[in-house]
Amino acid sequence: MVKICCIGAGYVGGPTMAVIALKCPHIEVAVVDISVPRINAWNSDQLPIYEPGLEDIVKQCRGKNLFFSTDVEKHVREADIVFVSVNTPTKTTGLGAGKAADLTYWESAARMIADVSASDKIVVEKSTVPVKTAEAIEKILMHNSKGIKFQILSNPEFLAEGTAIADLFNPDRVLIGGRETPEGFNAVQTLKEVYANWVPEDQIITTNLWSAELSKLAANAFLAQRISSVNAMSALCESTGADVTQVALPLVLIQESVPSS
Ligand SMILES: NC(=O)c1ccc[n+]([C@@H]2O[C@H](COP(=O)([O-])OP(=O)(O)OC[C@H]3O[C@@H](n4cnc5c(N)ncnc54)[C@H](O)[C@@H]3O)[C@@H](O)[C@H]2O)c1
Repeated sequence: MVKICCIGAGYVGGPTMAVIALKCPHIEVAVVDISVPRINAWNSDQLPIYEPGLEDIVKQCRGKNLFFSTDVEKHVREADIVFVSVNTPTKTTGLGAGKAADLTYWESAARMIADVSASDKIVVEKSTVPVKTAEAIEKILMHNSKGIKFQILSNPEFLAEGTAIADLFNPDRVLIGGRETPEGFNAVQTLKEVYANWVPEDQIITTNLWSAELSKLAANAFLAQRISSVNAMSALCESTGADVTQVALPLVLIQESVPSS
């Protein structure tokens, strides 16, 4: 049985792994976290997060092929595929404060993976990270690897809080980036096969590592630009007496008629 371990039982790790467990009964999924209260909540009737549909899935799979645990090292050691879905908050101090992502949690997870692993693994970046993070992570993993081989993949998450389960059931796209080497292509194919249990293959986009990392940041930037434009437009509406819903309607129609590439 293929074993997946996800480090980080948060908004992304919890729902994503629950859906993988539901759609892939042949895969054993362990979600691990250093936070004891969070894992206790995942193992209780009061899940730590609310998402429509999540509770039913967890009840269906928990104890069968979905497990929540604080024994991070054991599950990482046993896994074939390790997702890293830890928090990457904006730095509050030092170089890049207020702008750059704080990768402390990611780096500590990578060090732990390198320390405890006893077999080859695919390590999947699920967290939102700066471009080229995979290169830094690769260095940490390889430096400690004791001859163990790691393949790093970037598989950014596009779900939105509030519609996480619907987004995971029917994603617009699943993006998987890997090294352009025979081992890298094999790793990409392995992860693609997991998603292909429920996502149509033409919606699973495979790229090189840096394109996948950058694509997530570009999507976030485009979203921020759209929100900023709508805010500017509603300010203009207020000062001119225009109705923002009436102004938005033709804009939506224009957007829908633009072919997607
Ligand atoms: N929340 C969203 O809607 C969303 C959407 C897309 C992408 N993302 C990205 O996904 C990543 C995870 O986000 P989230 O919202 O799930 O975060 P979260 O804060 O809800 O969960 C992260 C979890 O990781 C755990 N953790 C941290 N370091 C650990 C370690 N070394 N070992 C084990 N557990 C550890 C924390 O205890 C926490 O429970 C972030 O990079 C975020 O930017 C979030």
